[in-house]
Amino acid sequence: MAVQVSPFAAGCGAQISGVDIREPLEAADRDAIRKAWLDNLVLRFRGVPMTDAQHMAFTRQFGELEFNPAKLIEMKYGVSTQTDGRKAEIPPEISVISNIIEDGKAIGGLGDGEAFWHTDSSFVDVPPAASLLRSLECPPPSAGGATSFLNCYAAYDDLPADTKKRIDGMTMIHAATHSSGGKAHRGFETVEDVSKVPGARQPMVRTHPETGKKSLFLGRRINAYVLGLPVVESEELLDELWDHMVQAKYTWTQEWQVGDLVWWDNRCAMHRRDAFDPSMRRLMHRTQLKGTRPV
Ligand code: OGA
Ligand code: MN
Repeated sequence: MAVQVSPFAAGCGAQISGVDIREPLEAADRDAIRKAWLDNLVLRFRGVPMTDAQHMAFTRQFGELEFNPAKLIEMKYGVSTQTDGRKAEIPPEISVISNIIEDGKAIGGLGDGEAFWHTDSSFVDVPPAASLLRSLECPPPSAGGATSFLNCYAAYDDLPADTKKRIDGMTMIHAATHSSGGKAHRGFETVEDVSKVPGARQPMVRTHPETGKKSLFLGRRINAYVLGLPVVESEELLDELWDHMVQAKYTWTQEWQVGDLVWWDNRCAMHRRDAFDPSMRRLMHRTQLKGTRPV
C-alpha cells in the first residue's frame, strides 16, 4: 500500500501522498484514504491538476455525488441563486467558486471577499457529507485567499460540562438566507424576525454517523436561531458558542497552490476563507458527497 498520511501540527488536517488520485484507486488505498479522512477531518492532495471528470470519478469512489448548492436551494426553496455566467457545459455536480467575470457575468460564486465560518449547505435538511475543493487558478498566498478549517469535535469536547448539558438535544435553524460571503441569496433579502427565518432545523450537537463522535454543529452565524428560546437569549447563547468555537487552536489554514485538492468532512469541520486581491483570478471547482440527516 502506497498511501502516506502526514497530519499537520494544527487541530486538523493531513497531507496525503504516495498515490495518484487521478487514477482508479486500489481498494486498500481507498480504505486508507477514507480512514485518514475520518481521523483528520481535512485532507490535502498536492500537485494533482485534474479535469472535472477525474475529480468526479475520484469523489464517486467514496459515495454518491451531491448537486451544487444553487441546485439544492432551487429544489428546496424554489428560487434560483445560480450565478448568471455559469458555463452550461459544467455538470450540476460541480460548484464553481470564483471571482472571474466574463462578459460582465460572474462564472462562479463567492467573489473575492471574505467567506465567514460555515458548514456547506446545512440550510437544507440533508447537507453534504463532504466537500472536495480543487484549485485551477489562485493568487499567491501573499495576495490572500487562504482557507481555514475548524475542528468542531475539539470545540465541543472543550465546552464546560454545564454548557454541553444545556445544548445537547437543542435544535436550531440554519438560515438559508445568506451565502458564506454574507451576501443575501436572491429572494431571501429581508428578515425581520430570526425565529421565522427560512432554513433547516438541525441539532446543535451532532453525532457523526461514522465515527460516533459529537461535534458542535452551528451552520453559520447570520440569522441563526435556537428553537424555543426568546430571540435575545438565542443570540446570547450563539455568541457565546461562536466565541468559543472559532479559537485559533482548533484550526488549520490551507494556502493554495494550483493543483491542490482539499477534502473536508462537512459533518464535523467548518471552514472560512480570507478575502484576496480583486485584481487577481481565483478559480476553484468543487464536488460534494451526499450526506445523511444530521442527528
Ligand atoms: C467552499 C468554500 C472557500 C474557498 O468551497 O465551500 O467555502 O476557499 N470555499 O473558496
Ligand atoms: Mn463553503
